[in-house]
Amino acid sequence: MIPVNVGVVGCGKISDAYLQASATFPVLNITACADLALAAAQALGSSYDLEVLSVDALLQRPEIEVVLNLTIPVAHAEVNLAALAAGKHAYCEKPFGLDTAEGRGVLAAAEEAGLRVGCAPDTFLGGSHQTVRGLIDDGAIGRLVAGTAFMMGSGHESWHPSPDFYYQPGGGPMFDMGPYYISALVNALGAVKSVAAIGSRAYEVRTIGSEPRAGETIAVEVDTHLAGTLEFHSGALVTLVMSFDVIAHGHSHIEIYGTEGTLIEPSPNGFGGAISIAKRGDPPAATPDQRWRDLPLSHGHAGALRSIGLADMCAAIRLGRDHRCSGELGFHVLEIMAAFDRSSRERQRVEIESHPQRPAPLLASLVEGELDPSDAAS
Ligand SMILES: NC(=O)c1ccc[n+]([C@@H]2O[C@H](COP(=O)([O-])OP(=O)(O)OC[C@H]3O[C@@H](n4cnc5c(N)ncnc54)[C@H](O)[C@@H]3O)[C@@H](O)[C@H]2O)c1
Repeated sequence: MIPVNVGVVGCGKISDAYLQASATFPVLNITACADLALAAAQALGSSYDLEVLSVDALLQRPEIEVVLNLTIPVAHAEVNLAALAAGKHAYCEKPFGLDTAEGRGVLAAAEEAGLRVGCAPDTFLGGSHQTVRGLIDDGAIGRLVAGTAFMMGSGHESWHPSPDFYYQPGGGPMFDMGPYYISALVNALGAVKSVAAIGSRAYEVRTIGSEPRAGETIAVEVDTHLAGTLEFHSGALVTLVMSFDVIAHGHSHIEIYGTEGTLIEPSPNGFGGAISIAKRGDPPAATPDQRWRDLPLSHGHAGALRSIGLADMCAAIRLGRDHRCSGELGFHVLEIMAAFDRSSRERQRVEIESHPQRPAPLLASLVEGELDPSDAAS
């Protein structure tokens, strides 16, 4: 397969993870980078031997087919639109936009231009989450009934040097971590039909604990504890709690309940991790903990592989198939996150309009670095 030339816009903290993992995927040829802060682009360029360009110059380069947009959330839609206007496919970090209007604008521009748009997270393509998907599709736990998903912590101001954005619109636990959990749930259970949620905030101000601003306070402008239920088109109900107001808890990241058993799925903020199952008819266990059986992973790609979603989009461009981390999926996740806030404010259930297809599962037999069977890729 002829590699796809990619240019990076936004050379901050997460760019390193993409560049490192991209070496696993032969379809990726990341050649250039740009950032509003020249020093950031120069640092990434010298670490990975990339041509350092201005954003405009990168967008004008005819050989670059895909823009990898790793800017901050407030710039995601703007940079995606600029890439599409320059005739390039765009793949961006999460979230797909700050609100549904931004997300809709990007989807419409991509459709009009006949170009692709993709969105992180891609962790659901990891070995553990694809194993869960395969088990569900094979009927290992029967018909899906319900589930739970918990992401709860005490916030990022204890360690992050500049944590203000976590407490401003577009931040909060839902926009920060929701994309991982909701994408994993849609991969496992399909599209969401409606959301009913309530939000609150335990503190009106937060005190920064990390240098260089230790002791400064931040006003909290968003809810920091959101609890709600997702109604899936399949009929399953999943209770999701996202919080920056909890010191410690003992819940699994994700549990999925079927008529014949329960699956415990590891954190969707990673690609691997242990999967456990307990089934109707299992022999009685001496203690409740002993009824869980760990399952081997049926799929590879379980390491730190942030860029697998980009690689999948690039392979899809070459092969003319759909890509998995699609703009439609990114928009669905964004609509669900926004619905949590709206449901809480309006004190009512919110119907979800978008209804993307579940992304196609990956084959279990794939070699590390390949997203398609070798006869398709040749
Ligand atoms: N840091 C992480 O651990 C992490 C993990 C997963 C996902 N993400 C996501 O990745 C994205 C980037 O996060 P980060 O931590 O790398 O942020 P960062 O602040 O470290 O880097 C962002 C970079 O984008 C540049 N930038 C901003 N607006 C721009 C524009 N209009 N044009 C060109 N460059 C622009 C900034 O100058 C900065 O260098 C966010 O959406 C975040 O949610 C981050």
